[in-house]
Amino acid sequence: MSKIQGQTIWLTGASSGIGLALAEALAAQGARLILTARSVDTLEALAERLPGEHRVFPIDLMDPEGAYAQGQALLESEQVDVLINNAGVSQRSLTLDTELQVYRDLMEINYFSVVALTKAVLPQMQSRGTGHIVTISSVAGKVGTKMRSGYAGAKFGVIGFMDCLRAETFSQGIKVTTICPGFVHTQVAHNALTGDGSKLNQPDPDNTGGISAEQCADEIIRAILRNRDEVIVGKGLSKLAPTLQRFFPGVVRKLVAKR
Ligand SMILES: NC(=O)c1ccc[n+]([C@@H]2O[C@H](COP(=O)([O-])OP(=O)(O)OC[C@H]3O[C@@H](n4cnc5c(N)ncnc54)[C@H](OP(=O)(O)O)[C@@H]3O)[C@@H](O)[C@H]2O)c1
Repeated sequence: MSKIQGQTIWLTGASSGIGLALAEALAAQGARLILTARSVDTLEALAERLPGEHRVFPIDLMDPEGAYAQGQALLESEQVDVLINNAGVSQRSLTLDTELQVYRDLMEINYFSVVALTKAVLPQMQSRGTGHIVTISSVAGKVGTKMRSGYAGAKFGVIGFMDCLRAETFSQGIKVTTICPGFVHTQVAHNALTGDGSKLNQPDPDNTGGISAEQCADEIIRAILRNRDEVIVGKGLSKLAPTLQRFFPGVVRKLVAKR
């Protein structure tokens, strides 16, 4: 995609953090947004204050089947140029302490809802011969660390799904971009699930010490405009980790185990 101006962009997770910063930056560049999350009041207030006309489209992405049906209904009245699968929930719990249902919930929001919304927009993009699907995975989708076994499983999975989709849509005019942020200062740790499914409800110094949501949003937009396949976003070790793991896998695994 060469410009943001005039594009209709369906953005999930628009009520907080990276999604909120993306909404602000994309609207400032002239996009028309379809804003998705569960917090309707927050989305309506956001749509009101952003420059331009935008649509609020609340969905609970813990229910991928419902999300797929709502997505199909949306596509009857909308032409979506770009889908940004940004909504997500992290984890802070050891495998031994994590209930099976928590693994399922982490997969619903971080993997199956991405598959569902992507499948909802795909037929329209294919028939028009144009479109861009952008997904926010994570450095946790490249390098597994402690306390993230369910989250990393979903974020690794979504990278594989998007790699396959990119190959399938290569000659159909559809671009597929996967973003892997390192630590970003948002509410992600507060909202992370613990072993029994309750929220952590406290900050994580790794995230508070990360890049800002605004910087992350700017880098995501640059990746979209350059039609990049996959981009690692962040600073310090969390940005370097995927490259280090590729060339020195044993060293990285030892570092991660000792941390
Ligand atoms: N922050 C980081 O360090 C970091 C690093 C790597 C990757 N990421 C990824 O970046 C993305 C954005 O995270 P963030 O850091 O901006 O976190 P955040 O501040 O917690 O925002 C998460 C967003 O997801 C939405 N969401 C959560 N559960 C939902 C559900 N069931 N249905 C619909 N929407 C839901 C939230 O909206 P509602 O609560 O209003 O529904 C919110 O808008 C996620 O995919 C995350 O995994 C973040």
